[in-house]
Amino acid sequence: MIKKCLFPAAGYGTRFLPATKAMPKEMLPILTKPLIQYGVEEAMEAGCDVMAIITGRGKRAITDHFDISYELEHQIQGSSKEKMLADIRHIIDKCTFTYTRQNEMKGLGDAIYKGNALLGDQDPFAVILADDLCVNPDGDGVLTQMAKLYEKYKCCIVACMEVPTEEVHKYGVIEGNEIEEGVFMVSNMVEKPENDKAPSNLAVIGRYVLTPDIFEIIKNTKPGKNGELQITDALCTQAKNGMVVAYKFKGTRFDCGSVDGFVEATNYYYNLEKKKKA
Ligand code: G1P
Repeated sequence: MIKKCLFPAAGYGTRFLPATKAMPKEMLPILTKPLIQYGVEEAMEAGCDVMAIITGRGKRAITDHFDISYELEHQIQGSSKEKMLADIRHIIDKCTFTYTRQNEMKGLGDAIYKGNALLGDQDPFAVILADDLCVNPDGDGVLTQMAKLYEKYKCCIVACMEVPTEEVHKYGVIEGNEIEEGVFMVSNMVEKPENDKAPSNLAVIGRYVLTPDIFEIIKNTKPGKNGELQITDALCTQAKNGMVVAYKFKGTRFDCGSVDGFVEATNYYYNLEKKKKA
């Protein structure tokens, strides 16, 4: 069972400036809930109760969000507003939050490596990139689907989706054989290839289940694309040993790191709420 989930959340969110000048991008709300809370709820649904967050300078709002706010809670106690904090109170009651900082922006691989101090090296763990917002209203959340697959394959699992060829350069891209419907044994992975050099159009999105040996592999991985330590490159080493499975998840992913995706997600949740009230 996957009990721990890592949230790399140190990035600057430059695509959302000036909104993210003093506020973490992970705290941008879709309706009334910050992006990272959607991620934490998805991890809880999958069975996680330890949330390890990689923060950075200027990210204190995340730590405060997952803590009690005595003054505010006292103020609205007994009022109709109290229920608006019910979900976050439930999260705080059920989960343990741990934090460390990524001091320099050296890539996603480096951010995940920082998680070693929080997670230890005994257990498999999940990784959620909160700006990839995933929904599956009619069934299991994406991480739950992946945790189930982990029980079967006991190796690293990456979520993937088909993207148009002209967009593959934005993603980690996999090459692999389909071993059951929507499940691929990965043989190769490339971080942000040029569109015409990609091995496929199956793009990795921000959900991973990783085995703890990944830390040692990251340590021995050299900086790759853009001079950054890439988790894709570390996973490629695993893939060469037949230890990575890619999974075409059921559901929809919104790229909330882009303004377009963020607005689409907002509209999606707005319509969902409207339907619930109707
Ligand atoms: C990261 C990963 C990339 C993955 C993407 C999913 O890239 O490096 O492999 O496809 O997340 O969102 P980023 O979007 O942080 O540049």
